[in-house]
Amino acid sequence: MPQVLRGPYLQIGTPTSIVVRWRTDVPTDSVVTIGPSVGNLNTSISDGTVTTEHEVLVQGLIPETFYFYGIGDSVHGTLAGNDPDHVFKTAPPVGSKRRTRLWVIGDSGSGNNNARGVRDGYAAFAGATHTDLWLMLGDNAYPNGTDSQYQTAVFQNMYETMLRRTALWSTFGNHDAHSANSATQTGVYFDVFTLPTSGQAGGIPSGTEAYYSFDWANIHFVCLDSAGPAIGPNHPMVPWLQADLASTTQDWIIAFWHHPPYTKGTHDSDTETRLITMRTVFMPILESFGVDLVLTGHSHVYERSMLIDSHYGPSSTFDINTMALDSGSGISNLGEAYRKSGPGPVPHDGTVAVVNGASGTAGSGSLNHPIMIRSLSKLGSVVIDVEDQQLDLKYLDRDGGIQDLFTIVKGGVSPVVTTRIPLPTAANWSFEDTNTDLGTAWRQPGFDDSGWNTGNGPLGFGSSLVQTTVSSGSSGSVPPTTYFRTTFVLDGQPSEVEYMALSALYDDGFIAYLNGQEVARSDSMGTGTVGFNTLATNHGATGYETFVLTPAALPLLQQGTNVLAVEVHQRSLSSSDLVWDGSLVVDGRFHFLGPCAAGTVTSNGEPFSTLLVNGTDGGLGRSVDVGINQPVTLDVLQPPGNPAPAHFSISGFLGTPTAAHVFTLPLGLGDLCFPTALAGPVVAPLSFLLADNFGNPGALLPSTTAPYSFTNPVGLPFPFTFTFQGLIETGGGGIGLTNAVRLHIVP
Ligand SMILES: [Fe+2]
Repeated sequence: MPQVLRGPYLQIGTPTSIVVRWRTDVPTDSVVTIGPSVGNLNTSISDGTVTTEHEVLVQGLIPETFYFYGIGDSVHGTLAGNDPDHVFKTAPPVGSKRRTRLWVIGDSGSGNNNARGVRDGYAAFAGATHTDLWLMLGDNAYPNGTDSQYQTAVFQNMYETMLRRTALWSTFGNHDAHSANSATQTGVYFDVFTLPTSGQAGGIPSGTEAYYSFDWANIHFVCLDSAGPAIGPNHPMVPWLQADLASTTQDWIIAFWHHPPYTKGTHDSDTETRLITMRTVFMPILESFGVDLVLTGHSHVYERSMLIDSHYGPSSTFDINTMALDSGSGISNLGEAYRKSGPGPVPHDGTVAVVNGASGTAGSGSLNHPIMIRSLSKLGSVVIDVEDQQLDLKYLDRDGGIQDLFTIVKGGVSPVVTTRIPLPTAANWSFEDTNTDLGTAWRQPGFDDSGWNTGNGPLGFGSSLVQTTVSSGSSGSVPPTTYFRTTFVLDGQPSEVEYMALSALYDDGFIAYLNGQEVARSDSMGTGTVGFNTLATNHGATGYETFVLTPAALPLLQQGTNVLAVEVHQRSLSSSDLVWDGSLVVDGRFHFLGPCAAGTVTSNGEPFSTLLVNGTDGGLGRSVDVGINQPVTLDVLQPPGNPAPAHFSISGFLGTPTAAHVFTLPLGLGDLCFPTALAGPVVAPLSFLLADNFGNPGALLPSTTAPYSFTNPVGLPFPFTFTFQGLIETGGGGIGLTNAVRLHIVP
């Protein structure tokens, strides 16, 4: 049987086509079989050319659809695939506002456990979430980009799982250029990759694989060549770039290439020619056409800028007053998401520049470029989610911990919350430190710990880190185990959680239980059954370490209050110290308002709008910003097909409701997303009734005429948030919920 030496791997994914490539040890013809499920690969695509380098274009596919597949030849049948690992998903239609997940690695080509660790960190973060797109930012195979180096740095014992599931798009690095020439498109890099030259995935045809563009959902991607010969203002890439950018009306523009325009890592953008060229020649073009995000590598660090514009000189010329459109953190849950106009490209409306060059090797440098919000010497990779008018980027370390994050939103809607910290560091914990074996009951959520002492983390003894002291026992008989418990509140639906991680500061060993079930333990506790007298191996508390809890934790999570219980073990009964502190971070799509109501969500996850605030339903974030003293208008629309006029009521909540506020509606209508006063006076200090034409409970009176308008009240503290939701009569005499919309009063 022929052996598959490389791949299969996927290239140029579009809504209706994909390229499948692989290498065999002996020449054969090529057959790709695809179908809707394993064992049902009912369509076959063949190429009779006898070769070891197989490349098959699969066409005629349905957009946004999973296809299982196999590869092989006409003599031997399937050589690989027809199993759950060999599956790809076609792109959604161009322009659609579906959520898109990208994984981005840069300078990953070390071919060692550093690169594998970064790979595994992303896999732990992603869990079951499908990766739609995968970008490599160049220097994919060190040191010279040879075929054998590509084998060990990309194809073998490295990225096989991702290669067979997600199309890979690459840009050309200087180490790739040791074995290839982008001017002639010859050499290993151009043999390894199949990239679009004729606009087959969208954009203006470039005529070369060295630089190209493509569309995915509502994103326009531009790949530039910064490593080839004669890169500069007279390069043919310049007029192509201008024509390409002028042709796109996509919501987002993401550009990527190898040499960073801004860095103070293992390279210096003030002194190195190619970096200066990319900044002075290409950044002005990109920003004049409204680029949103620039991704580069080369410098073996992570650096991430504020929202900048028109900074084309050396770093000393950066003027934060004129070149920073937003100098804040961009962190959404601090209320600092970057806000751009739009939708669609707007010239010079702000760019975030990211250096992501530590996916295989972490270097350092002065790390003091003045545009940067975050500069790290730490192995990792970038994950990006784009959905409708919101872009979220995170930097993940090799443990799957989130080291940086920011959000950009466009068009005046507020962001969907994605990353939250339900349990911060230095939270309040109860602890039991009396050298008593509590068995296993103490782990359970219903255990009564009201008699325990409490204090804020870090807790322990014998360490300068400690804020709350626990007992060290008597001399030579330190308690082998000390118990800790705390609670945290999860707002929104547990089903919205995609990632959950414990950040732990510990000495010497710990096991953590979520609502009674083990979800994490330190390596220092081994893998066996642990009792009160079990000792850990030595582990000093030098910093917080990330333990990804998903997927095991997801079925355990409760909406509302959860219990985290932790046992901390000593390495010996004469140990001189103990430390415990832990925090939790969750990531997902937290709408807070809960589902709109059964049957009232579009296939894109947005509410069917019956309630508009200042003309909008707030999109997926279900939030709208309004200035101080700006009139606020509520419009209640007729449900589709409804006999006019529809009866309705609108209720308001001061603030953003949480899971604790879910309650059952009267009239047997199910759960409303926040407390409200229906057909009566205000029932809670924070809720109020804006309009009610239902009259007595259960009785419908003639509708108030929509739109219902009011001017925002005077004297309420700034900033504040209203949340509105209503009941509306639907066709056939039923009653349904309107969508809920948050209204933020902002300066
Ligand atoms: Fe490089």
